[in-house]
Amino acid sequence: MGDAAIKTRESNTQNRVIRSCIIHNHNPSFFLHQSAPPPFQTLASTMAPIDPHSFTDSTHPLTTHISLSLYFDFSTSTIVSSALLTLCAPHTGDLLLDTRSLTITSVIDPTNNTQLPFSLSSDVDPIKGQPLTVSLTNNSKILITFVTSPSSSALQWLTPPQTFNKKFPFVYTQCQSIHARSIFPCQDTPTSRVRYNAKLNIPHQLSAVMSARHVERRAPLAGGDAGLACDESLWCAEGRVVEEFTMEQPIPPYLFAFAVGEIGNREVGPRTKVFAESVPAVLDAAAKEFAGTEDMIRVGEKLFGNYDWERFDLLVLPPSFPYGGMENPRMVFLTPTVIKGDASGAQVVAHELAHSWTGNLITNKTNDHFWLNEGFTTYAERRIVEAVQGEDIAALNIGIGWKGLVDEMERFKDNMEFTKLLTNQEGVDPDDVYSQVPYEKGFQFLWRIERQIGRPAFDEFLKKYIAAFKFQSIDTCTFLDFLKANVPGIEKEIDLKTWTEGTGIPPDAMEPVSNIYTKIVSLANEFKQGRMPSEEEVANWHGQEWELYLENLPKSVEASQVTALDCRYRLSESKDYEVKVAFLQLAIASRCSEYYYVVEKTLKEVGRMKYLRPLYTALVQGNASKEEEKIFAQRVFSEARETYHPIAQSVVESILSKHL
Ligand code: BES
Ligand code: ZN
Repeated sequence: MGDAAIKTRESNTQNRVIRSCIIHNHNPSFFLHQSAPPPFQTLASTMAPIDPHSFTDSTHPLTTHISLSLYFDFSTSTIVSSALLTLCAPHTGDLLLDTRSLTITSVIDPTNNTQLPFSLSSDVDPIKGQPLTVSLTNNSKILITFVTSPSSSALQWLTPPQTFNKKFPFVYTQCQSIHARSIFPCQDTPTSRVRYNAKLNIPHQLSAVMSARHVERRAPLAGGDAGLACDESLWCAEGRVVEEFTMEQPIPPYLFAFAVGEIGNREVGPRTKVFAESVPAVLDAAAKEFAGTEDMIRVGEKLFGNYDWERFDLLVLPPSFPYGGMENPRMVFLTPTVIKGDASGAQVVAHELAHSWTGNLITNKTNDHFWLNEGFTTYAERRIVEAVQGEDIAALNIGIGWKGLVDEMERFKDNMEFTKLLTNQEGVDPDDVYSQVPYEKGFQFLWRIERQIGRPAFDEFLKKYIAAFKFQSIDTCTFLDFLKANVPGIEKEIDLKTWTEGTGIPPDAMEPVSNIYTKIVSLANEFKQGRMPSEEEVANWHGQEWELYLENLPKSVEASQVTALDCRYRLSESKDYEVKVAFLQLAIASRCSEYYYVVEKTLKEVGRMKYLRPLYTALVQGNASKEEEKIFAQRVFSEARETYHPIAQSVVESILSKHL
């Protein structure tokens, strides 16, 4: 089973509503049960989860609006909260909501302020959390009061010493894929799309940002402003302010996001400001790095249709942010490691921007269809990069991605399910199987279609696809049906079933063709024969060229070769983490222990999982003779753990527990 330690629980696939026309339709009679339960079936058996990662039930109305009141208590790292949920229709009977590590204090019918019966399951599912069951009698509104836990999986609470300025605390969210439920009870499935408004009650020295429209910053009000989240005396206490936000477009819950701290900003374009911890040097560097954002938005609009989210702001987070970027609408979240001083952060911004169309407008219905988000976005990102940075850079990115895809086949060789585009994630934690497959195989599939029908026709198809499904959550089958309807005969030219349901890399996938790409790959092959590239050959290389070169070297080489390469090109000192981490991976695999202090330093200064995963894996993977490395990895993790986001903590724990 790959390097993913997969948390499993008994499968209830049999009982799941899976509308994909491709897989799992082994229970066709189920569809009949939807409208008319056959005789001798209990009512319970007609109920079925609609998403392997949610308790949301097929027979329950979905939430359309959430109104949140959030009182931030930095002294306990908790949020004392209320959520007013509006359902699309009144419901009678049980309603199931997803929660994780929440303490529910009351459930109220807001129309008459009476208590509604509820129960929070004591059985904690290791992946999905605890279902909250509320008993309704023709209710369409439910007010829930609750408190988050300091270990909420979506939230990272930073103490003042963990921030840049060291003066104030900081907290931020990461909800994808299934962490929104650790902030508020909800139907935490992307099948559901909600509008929301939120009041964040915070200390007045701090400010709040959200992936939503900022309404106002104001004093807390007496008389209902607290939404029953907490006592009015607390809500209106001296030194507190309320920041109010609204999200008027329906979004899947995983796109809910905020950050609270000492935050400043700089304007970088007509619809873009960059936000970060209020440090002039950080803000200036970020403003410089992202100066080209508006040009990219315009390219995106030309290719994919209007930008529908009004603003495209950027938030640069502390170094512990677990991803490169997260496409939170109106304000994407970014790791500070993308600020390298050479405008190369543009690739990550291009990716998160591309999600504004693919992922945020059209959303995967469940994580089984995650490639619809990331494969399309990787394709769209590369089209933007090609338009603003040229074909060579786009080809380099495709080449780095190709190598990543090939490597994932090795990682998943004992668990080929996760080399498919359309996956079955029943009983699987999406964070454990996160991989390049949905990105790069998805990209390859779309690139294959582009090659088949030609770019102009594919561009037209993409625009039409986006316009047809915007603000909807769809599955692979819906995409394939739309493709077949709009590109007649495509199924005769491309084996759509092999691409979407098959394992491995289809034979008609393709490595990019470009002079620079081919040259770098052949130089990497020559390293095996002991030849290092000359100064002249690397004269024009930037981070991505080095990354491609390092990724294409053998997994391990002689320790002396590693040191020789570093003496000449100082890769272990690179400011570019992609380069540094690729080099350190090679150094670990080649048992070059003189670099372990750099590995330790790196693991302690960044929390981006793209770097943590390969470094920890390289340390602990493999034979028993690596005892020293394993002890080293455990020590570093125990010392660095508290600085990582909870999602990263749990992913590193999975890696270590699998190998130790
Ligand atoms: N949506 C993803 C990040 C993500 C995926 C978070 C799954 C949680 C679960 C984001 O758009 C992404 O792909 N980020 C990449 C950027 C890269 C492809 C340019 C990253 O973080 O490395
Ligand atoms: Zn993405």
